[in-house]
Amino acid sequence: MTAGPLDEAVRTIRARTDLEPRVGLILGSGLGGLADQVEDCVEIPYADIPGWPASTAIGHAGFLVLGTIDDAPVAVMRGRAHLYEGIPADRAVFGVRVLGRLGVRTLVVTNAAGGIDESYRPGQLVLISDHVNLMGTSPLVGANDDELGPRFPDLSDAYDPELRARARDASTRLGLEVGEGVYAAWLGPQFETPAEIRFMRAIGGDLAGMSTVPEVIAARHMGIRCLGISVVTNMAAGVGDGKLAHDEVLAVGAEAEPRLTALLRELLPALAA
Ligand code: HPA
Repeated sequence: MTAGPLDEAVRTIRARTDLEPRVGLILGSGLGGLADQVEDCVEIPYADIPGWPASTAIGHAGFLVLGTIDDAPVAVMRGRAHLYEGIPADRAVFGVRVLGRLGVRTLVVTNAAGGIDESYRPGQLVLISDHVNLMGTSPLVGANDDELGPRFPDLSDAYDPELRARARDASTRLGLEVGEGVYAAWLGPQFETPAEIRFMRAIGGDLAGMSTVPEVIAARHMGIRCLGISVVTNMAAGVGDGKLAHDEVLAVGAEAEPRLTALLRELLPALAA
């Protein structure tokens, strides 16, 4: 990825608003409620931003929302690109890189995930402590753009421990039970088999999902701090009794979304500081 397309996207956004977002948020499937709470906002369809990949997944509207929440300048990505849509990893993280160029220093990434850890329950929120990348690729494959970050970025503490501690404090203030676990990223779009879930558990996975990891890699490459929050929308294949269905993922996500939105709002002032 060369800087040219990023600069053009930034110019297009800057022509609509001079807001300098400090916090970026990526809201996953059916988890977009916070985008409606952005004040003085400018909403830009992804299709209007040159270079921005279109997201085709069900439950994802494709908008970038810039504005303030409790006076914190934010950029909210409502809808994201997934690798399973056939979008190459370096293209899928275009939005993250644009946010970085706009001034975002902290990125909150949310997603729907399957619960591998049997202590989780559908509807529960889980703070991501680390990830295992099983997608077979990385957004950093190819020539490195040294302006974005180093060739071999460090991913120790990719999910910032301090941000996680603040999220735990915020959840305690709200009386929300929030778990913590390792996110295993799966290419998809098919859900995992029970054997694949057993494999993920054996290598340390607590959550299974199809997003987030490319975004966090691209953000860490740019030195952006990351907080990841999963909504457990279902128990992973072979962990629960039922079959997996995207409708159920969306329905449980919708039920849990107000809790996620409340947590994000409670957290935001601390993230923007
Ligand atoms: N697996 C992968 N991704 C998911 C799941 C799952 O069980 N649920 C929601 N996203």
